[in-house]
Amino acid sequence: MSDWPADADAYVPSYTPNAVELADVELILTGAYRPLDGFMSVAEARSVLDNGTLLDGRSWPVPVTLDVPSRIADELEEQPESARFVELTDPEGAPVATLHVTDADGLGTEKVRLGGRLRRSGDGSHGVFTAYRNTPEQAKETYSSSRVLAAIVDKPLHRPDLAQLARATRQLGAHLLLIVPTASDMAGSPELPLSTATVMRTVLAAQDRLPSATIMALPLARRANPVRDGLLAARVARAYGATHIMSRPDSIGGGAGVRSMLPREIAYDSRDGQWRSIEDIEPPFRKPGLSDVEVADMLARGFELPEWFTPPAVAEELRRACPPRPERGLVVMFTGLSGSGKSTISRGVYESLLEDGNRTVTLLDGDVVRRHLSAGLGFSKADRSMNIRRIGFVAAEIGRHGGIALAAPIAPYDADRLAAQAMAKQAGADFLLIHVNTPLEVCEERDRKGLYAKARAGQLKEFTGISDPYEEPAAADLHIDTSDITVGEATEQVLELMTDGGWLESSGFKLD
Ligand code: ADX
Repeated sequence: MSDWPADADAYVPSYTPNAVELADVELILTGAYRPLDGFMSVAEARSVLDNGTLLDGRSWPVPVTLDVPSRIADELEEQPESARFVELTDPEGAPVATLHVTDADGLGTEKVRLGGRLRRSGDGSHGVFTAYRNTPEQAKETYSSSRVLAAIVDKPLHRPDLAQLARATRQLGAHLLLIVPTASDMAGSPELPLSTATVMRTVLAAQDRLPSATIMALPLARRANPVRDGLLAARVARAYGATHIMSRPDSIGGGAGVRSMLPREIAYDSRDGQWRSIEDIEPPFRKPGLSDVEVADMLARGFELPEWFTPPAVAEELRRACPPRPERGLVVMFTGLSGSGKSTISRGVYESLLEDGNRTVTLLDGDVVRRHLSAGLGFSKADRSMNIRRIGFVAAEIGRHGGIALAAPIAPYDADRLAAQAMAKQAGADFLLIHVNTPLEVCEERDRKGLYAKARAGQLKEFTGISDPYEEPAAADLHIDTSDITVGEATEQVLELMTDGGWLESSGFKLD
């Protein structure tokens, strides 16, 4: 094509889009978003939001846009209009695509929305499960029927799900296409959060139950609106040849040119051990499946998932991703004012775990972290946020590898504590928040480091509790006020919480 940058002298700024935008790039390039061949202008995105159509009138459910810092648009301004290109790169900086910018609309002062066509650059071979990321054309060649039933799979497939899919496929005489969305880090449900890679592995582990199915790992992202997400997924499924789509009752998966199939309510028939429609089983023999809460609980306790509900290969993948709590990573974050007792309690817990020796443990004390990991950061809101996110990152990595991380920063902002929790969950670790809520008067009275006196005298600015805010945690797993208990007692309370929850092996982790 003549309009792609041929001129070696042309200046082409490069930019790394966020995860959702990169996922869009991939789906545009493979043709999965047909008829889209690039990012939308502001006007087109508005038309999609207002009318559900592109500017040419064709229906489209979700704005697909790229917003960049205005600096990039300024750089483009200097190029002739026909030669405005941006190289889009992955987070490691490898080129993924070139955008021919034909629209640039300011969004406030800092961001500009760039619209235009995309062309692939680079080798496109990065990412996980690339073997399951064929283009629509490649995928369509492998189907065994002109009818294709698609299902968007963002949770593991247990026997009822497998029975459901097998039944619908048989009834339709269709080829089965399983699409696992991989653009977001997390999938599963709030009760049983799983990484997208884990979901993909569980689906592969169930493959022998659906032998002729095509499995695709496609970079579909979860966006703000589940209904629009469902419509976009249906679009993509259609591009991959789907004629029908299995959608949950709570999502409108159909439309977009594919027929929606609602799953039947299904149960285990205890007479012959088959899963079938609930109305085909007499009430005394109906057994419902397990909920995500029950599955999560069994995994936490190290129970085998029962074979009547989960194929053993799927159960094994889940066991590896969610090991029993005595082996699972755990992040314990202590939050509270300076002088509240966080450091002392966390040190007590740390020493007790060292003596015990059953688990590997790392202590990330607030003051110690600031001398190494966060050296150079101050106490502005932005610096405190960065500090907690660094701690959260390191703690999550410790959790990923099955360790216990004890962190004891002030962590005054709820959003940062939640970010640390999300990082832990994404790493497959559990997270406990302990609010050391010793009152300010007591902390100030103690003033071990003399900092409160300095803060009162105005020598120390932005001091938490005096001249800087502390947001009380909305949901902590434990509150400890050290005004009237000893360090030993406080430490015991934390150890008890960890033992009762099952993270420390002990006779206290009773199974009822
Ligand atoms: S946080 O807000 O980013 O979580 P962090 O726990 O790392 O704070 O550091 C707090 C420690 O730094 C306090 O225990 C205290 O010793 C010291 N410190 C120095 N200046 C301040 C300040 N302005 N506010 C709070 N703590 C301070």
